[in-house]
Amino acid sequence: MRRFESYIDDLLQRPEVRRLARRGAHHFSRNRLQHCLAVAKLSYYLGRLVGADTRVCVRAALLHDWYFENRHEHQNRVGANVHHPQIAARNARGLGEPAAVTDIIATHMWPYGRIRPASLEAWVVWMADNVVWLTDLLASGGHYFRKKMYGFLYGPSQEATYAA
Ligand SMILES: [Fe+2]
Ligand SMILES: [Fe+2]
Repeated sequence: MRRFESYIDDLLQRPEVRRLARRGAHHFSRNRLQHCLAVAKLSYYLGRLVGADTRVCVRAALLHDWYFENRHEHQNRVGANVHHPQIAARNARGLGEPAAVTDIIATHMWPYGRIRPASLEAWVVWMADNVVWLTDLLASGGHYFRKKMYGFLYGPSQEATYAA
């Protein structure tokens, strides 16, 4: 087991955390557990690079989007962007995570989420989250563009035959 995984092994054993995998697409083709694991992994390496507490970074990263939209705040995308950090932070507190971890979660959507990251570790997770979703955007955006071009060049009926 790699180091970053050993930091979150106890969390990954929990069915309520693993439930994240069943949320369907979070960013493009990735489910929310895949997204959180990717942010955790990148946070580990970024954290090491800048001398941050990597254990705190990795635990916060895994739980940063641990929420389930069944609340009125999530009726629209803007509401979700503003509120989900607080909900995920509260959920993590419920699991017994300390303020060092939950504060990172609460600030990961800055500037949308209004509260600015206040520690080196919080900036690490903020950066990792943004790099991961931008990577997903570029990857699937490129795929979308190629698929549309295929349809344009060879006819709409051919669009469906495009293979990534
Ligand atoms: Fe988020
Ligand atoms: Fe995220």
